[in-house]
Amino acid sequence: MSKSGIFTSSLAKKYWMALTGLFLITFLVGHLLGNMQLITKTGEEGRRAFNEYAYFMGHNIFIKILAYVTYFSILAHACIGLYLAVQNKKARPKNYAYNRPGTNSSTPSRYMAILGTIILVFIVTHMANFWWKQKVAETVPLHYVENTTDMQIGQDPMTGAPVTRKITIKSALTTNGNYLEVAAKDVESGNSQELVKTQDTELIDMNTNLHKAEGVRDLHTVVMNFFGHTEQGGKANDLALVAVILYVISMFVLMFHLWHGFGSAFQSLGLNHRKYNGLIRFVGQAFAIVVPFLFAIIPVVIYLRR
Ligand code: HEM
Repeated sequence: MSKSGIFTSSLAKKYWMALTGLFLITFLVGHLLGNMQLITKTGEEGRRAFNEYAYFMGHNIFIKILAYVTYFSILAHACIGLYLAVQNKKARPKNYAYNRPGTNSSTPSRYMAILGTIILVFIVTHMANFWWKQKVAETVPLHYVENTTDMQIGQDPMTGAPVTRKITIKSALTTNGNYLEVAAKDVESGNSQELVKTQDTELIDMNTNLHKAEGVRDLHTVVMNFFGHTEQGGKANDLALVAVILYVISMFVLMFHLWHGFGSAFQSLGLNHRKYNGLIRFVGQAFAIVVPFLFAIIPVVIYLRR
């Protein structure tokens, strides 16, 4: 391969790194805004808002396409980044011989590769914990609520006073925004009656066997339980504190990666200009601090509110 070919192909790789990196930066903004709901909204309202949001993100065709672009970008960014780091390492003695400190980028790229690898490990374990359960294994249970009410079951023949029993009604949140009653339980006797059966997310009438609605999965409770919170039910993760600490450390790593990556993406795309370089550096460094910081406080707040 000619020298210019090598140059072109390594330039092309740097372009891909920059394009996928900038796309992942925009993914981070969207992901952060969606996840902030985990701490800005509380109670059943917060749980419902987050689960409806997760449902929308998993079913809107435009968002689905963006999700595939995200997976592609993560893989491409990681593979090309590691390839460039290995190439840089191989070329290093030559660079030292030429002694061009201004153009020798092996040191930051080596650190970027190590930081990027840690982030990749974070993303893989993170997706295994949430995304895999929600979208692939489909093991996330449906969103249920239980309400106990005094239900009138008749009248006292002597006094005419209403006779009531405490009944717990279990309802499922459906994709059309309603709560559908799926079971009723007499609190005193413990007798219960199922009104609806479920088949995956489908809610089917027990008597007619007809489709009644589609249920929304309760990803909110999975995330809350993962970080040690059980207000909405479920079982807290025994290793919640370890998970929170690992998330915070990962966000520090993300901060260092973005600190260098943001500005260098603009440089690789040739979008640098003396007039704007200061602004790009400022926005990049502010982004590198604010975004990972906000991501990091999500597990911390969930854990502290448990
Ligand atoms: C610390 C706070 C975070 C929380 C609470 C969180 C939560 C979640 C949840 C619940 C999902 C599953 C969504 C679904 O399948 O519907 C998810 C997916 C994902 N997360 Fe995170 N996340 C956090 C931070 C991050 C960070 C910092 C990154 C990247 C560095 C990241 C990368 C991803 C990716 C790539 C997916 C798959 C997205 C998709 O399928 O569209 N997450 N996250």
